[in-house]
Amino acid sequence: MSDKWIRACATNDIDEEDLIRFDHGDKTFCIYNTADGFFASDGMCTHEDEHLENGIVIDCVIECPLHQGRFDVRTGKALSAPVCVDLKTWPVKLEDGDVFIKIPA
Ligand code: FES
Repeated sequence: MSDKWIRACATNDIDEEDLIRFDHGDKTFCIYNTADGFFASDGMCTHEDEHLENGIVIDCVIECPLHQGRFDVRTGKALSAPVCVDLKTWPVKLEDGDVFIKIPA
């Protein structure tokens, strides 16, 4: 399956140091606006069945709302227990005020 650029939202739909959920097909993602730019990851935490949409973004880190596991949103790296499996991240580009993510078509 090839990846395609898909419009996820407008840049001004997300406050800085915040995120939104984006669903596409049967997949769910999170789009982050940080001081380092926009990033995208899978929406579900790698620890248990919890969406990260209600998590807290601090700098470039997302904290899961259920057990406070943390991931670096730039790389998906798992940073603190109980998470130990990295989060899948996806390429992001900005065009004409919109955020696009490159995901399986
Ligand atoms: S479900 Fe995310 S840290 Fe447990």
